[in-house]
Amino acid sequence: MINAGCKGLRIQQSIDLKPYNSLAISVYAEYFCVVEQIDQLKAALAFAQDNNLEVTPIGGGSNLVLVADISGLVVHIKLRGVSSEPVSPDQVDIYFAAGENWHEMVRLCLSNGWYGIENLALIPGYMGAAPIQNIGAYGVELCDVLQSVEVIELNSGQIKTLSAADCQFGYRTSLFKQSAKDQYIITSVCLRLCTVPRVNIEYPSLKASINCSVPTPEDVFRAVCRIRSDKLPDPDTLPNVGSFFKNPVISSELADRLSRENPDLPLYRYQETRYKVPAAWLIERCGFKGCRRENVGIHINQALVLVNYSGSGAEVLALADEISSEVRQKYAIDLEIEPRVYGKLC
Ligand code: EPU
Repeated sequence: MINAGCKGLRIQQSIDLKPYNSLAISVYAEYFCVVEQIDQLKAALAFAQDNNLEVTPIGGGSNLVLVADISGLVVHIKLRGVSSEPVSPDQVDIYFAAGENWHEMVRLCLSNGWYGIENLALIPGYMGAAPIQNIGAYGVELCDVLQSVEVIELNSGQIKTLSAADCQFGYRTSLFKQSAKDQYIITSVCLRLCTVPRVNIEYPSLKASINCSVPTPEDVFRAVCRIRSDKLPDPDTLPNVGSFFKNPVISSELADRLSRENPDLPLYRYQETRYKVPAAWLIERCGFKGCRRENVGIHINQALVLVNYSGSGAEVLALADEISSEVRQKYAIDLEIEPRVYGKLC
C-alpha cells in the first residue's frame, strides 16, 4: 500500500479487477485506488504523473471488456453528491457527482418530482460514464436532458466545464469516445429536468406495455423496469455489458437490397438518407441467439447481449468476432462493438 499524501487515498498494487467490471473478468491493475473526493482524484493524478503511470478511470465497470492486465494506475471514481438549482418555474438543474449510481439517481429524481430520465431506468453504471456513450433507451437519450459536464483534464489537472454542444453527442457516442478520448475524467454531470410531469412513450415496446390512458412518469419508470428485467440479464447474476454491439446505420441502397431479400427486416430511418438496423435481428438471423461457446454466449432473450459464464476477455472478443464475420458475410454490414476494450491481447 502506498500513501499518496492525501487523506483517505490508498494506492494499492496488483489488484484483481473482477469485482469492478460487470463482465466479471479477472485481470490485474498494476496500481489501483478508489477516489471519493476531488482532492483524492487530484492526488491520484499527481501520483500517476510523478511515477510516469498511465491513468485508466473506471466507474461502475458496466461497459468494459478487460482483455489483459492493465499497467499504470486504475482509478475507481466514487465521487458522491447531488445538488439542485431551479432555473425556471418548470425546470431544474441537477448536479450529480460522477460516482453516483445511475439507476439510484433516476429513482431519486422521480421521488423529488424531477422528470425526464425515467425511460432510462435500470441502466447499470455510474453517472460519470453516462455521457461517454450517451446512454439511451426507450426513446430517450442522455443528450436530451444533459446541460453540461465538469471534467478534469488529465494533462493539466485543470477543471473545465463542457456544454452539451461541446460534448458532440451522437448515437452511443460523444467527444469522450472520439477526439477527446482519454483526455478527461468526468467529475460531475448536470441534467436539466422538468418539474412538471411529461412522459415520452413513443418507443413501440414501451407504448405496448403501458395500459393506462394518461400514464405518469412513475408508470413509465415501472414499465421500463419491467421490460428490462424481463429480457435483459442482471449483471450481478449473469455477467454482461448490456448491448454488446451498436445498431448499425446503413445506406438506403443497402437497405433497399436487404429488404427485398428479407421482407421482415426492421428498418428505422436515421437522419436524411440512412437507416438503422437492429443488430439483435441480424445476430438472431445468423443463429447466435442463446448460443454458447464454452464460457461465453449470447443471451436467450436478447441477441444483442453477450453473457460471460466464466470466460476471459479474449473469449468474449472471439465470440464477438465470430458474430461480426457471420453478419458481414450474410448481410454486408459491419457491426461495431459498443463497450470499451482495455488491455492488449498478446
Ligand atoms: N430484436 C431481435 N431479436 C432480439 C431482440 C431484438 O430481432 O433478440 C429486434 C426486434 O426487431 C426488435 C428490435 O430488434 O423490435 C429492437 O429491439 P429492442 O427494443 O430490444 O432494442 P435494441 O435495438 O436491441 C436498443 C439499445 C438498448 C435499449 C433498447 C431500448 C443499442 C445498442 N441498444 O436495443 O440499450 O435498452 O434499444 O431502447 O442501441 C444498452 O445499450 O446496453 C442497451 C440495452
